[in-house]
Amino acid sequence: MYDTKWSFYVEATIRETMSRFSLRPTDRLLDVGCGTGALLHRLSATYPGAQLSGVEPVPKMLAIARRRLSPSIELHEGWAERLPFASEQFDAVVSCNMFHYIRKPIAALQEMRRVLRPDGQLIITDWCDDYWSCRVCDLYLRLFNHAHFKTYRERECVQLLQEAGYAVVHIDRYRINWLWGMMTARVMKDTA
Ligand SMILES: C[S@@+](CC[C@H](N)C(=O)[O-])C[C@H]1O[C@@H](n2cnc3c(N)ncnc32)[C@H](O)[C@@H]1O
Repeated sequence: MYDTKWSFYVEATIRETMSRFSLRPTDRLLDVGCGTGALLHRLSATYPGAQLSGVEPVPKMLAIARRRLSPSIELHEGWAERLPFASEQFDAVVSCNMFHYIRKPIAALQEMRRVLRPDGQLIITDWCDDYWSCRVCDLYLRLFNHAHFKTYRERECVQLLQEAGYAVVHIDRYRINWLWGMMTARVMKDTA
């Protein structure tokens, strides 16, 4: 249902996100808010040797991901603000179309930082409030969809990432069609 209704959007955001980072052959990656597993599915085809994991709080979404993905991909029920993993486990943490749900964004970014290895990278794609169409959607959803929390402008996103301890912040802004304006942030855990 989610995949069918949102197929253009999911395809486009996966393509844009994957074009902005790469993995080494055996890297370990975590997808936070993996939903039905669309990004993990694509990553497993592109990087067959990578060790992929996903975390998702909604059991129905997770069940679809379980059916779709190879059993070698580890899936866990859990929240971004309290990731069910030991520290410094992952070479990459990625999150696509999830950040506007987060009620405690700094806590979530700190958790993602905690589970990254020292040279690990964080990649986040979500709507960007610098586009007027996204600001309208954000206001509408804040009023009528209680699951939605907030979307951010690029400068707010930089501020959040810096507050959570990431030093160099690189953000690309782009449209995937007339309605959806996106941003992808790619940052390293440690930049020294
Ligand atoms: C719009 S869907 C995107 C799913 C997938 N990442 C994609 O791009 O197809 C957002 C997902 O984030 C999950 N989510 C919501 N709040 C979350 C939180 N606090 N921590 C982790 N995931 C969350 C939702 O359950 C949902 O599956």
